[in-house]
Amino acid sequence: MAQCCINPSILSADFVNLEAELRRISNADAVHVDVMDNHFVPNLTIGLPVVQRIQAVSPVPLDAHLMIADADRWAPGFADAGIASVTFHAEASIAPIKLARELRARGAKAGMALRPGTPVEPYLDMLPELDLLLIMTVEPGFGGQSFLDLTLPKIRRARAAIDGSGVAVALQVDGGITEETIVRAAEAGANVFVAGSAVYGAADPAAAVERLRAAGSR
Ligand code: DX5
Ligand code: ZN
Repeated sequence: MAQCCINPSILSADFVNLEAELRRISNADAVHVDVMDNHFVPNLTIGLPVVQRIQAVSPVPLDAHLMIADADRWAPGFADAGIASVTFHAEASIAPIKLARELRARGAKAGMALRPGTPVEPYLDMLPELDLLLIMTVEPGFGGQSFLDLTLPKIRRARAAIDGSGVAVALQVDGGITEETIVRAAEAGANVFVAGSAVYGAADPAAAVERLRAAGSR
């Protein structure tokens, strides 16, 4: 059985106690950090200085999800800061291939995200440039939304393309992941799961991570 990765999103954590909140998910594979600029999405979260402090105290590697405009300008700085994995949005990048190469050259894993309505087909030829493809399963901007089942066919097509290309690209989903929806996303081919409210809304976040891992492994 292939074990999946569970990356809790701290968007649903207590921002006043982030260090303690990180310790509660030390059994996770990575911590998902949502960076929003109030331009690419209608919400504002944290910037690089706070992300760097999170990295300094986190028991697990960081998976930064940049929901910011002008990704070509801002994303390389996150890689320069030593963030393990940096994901930019295809819709926010003028030159995604160049940007993915810059992230890798700076020592980060290169991730690219697609909003629910963005087709994956125009990007399939650049899979070898990526370490991670993120298919958003809600419109980005807020935690606690419902999983969009209409994204499942795109997840299936992405999985088929990744397997066909023979490159090791992680297929991540983010938004509305619960113990129920994770089964459908995993069946469609996703193998890295972001979960905010399902982890930090639980009484025992570490136990929620284990339950999600069991439900998402196949
Ligand atoms: C949404 C963020 C997600 C969010 C997920 O724009 O990218 O990472 O935290 O939250 P849940 O799991 O509650 O949908
Ligand atoms: Zn996210």
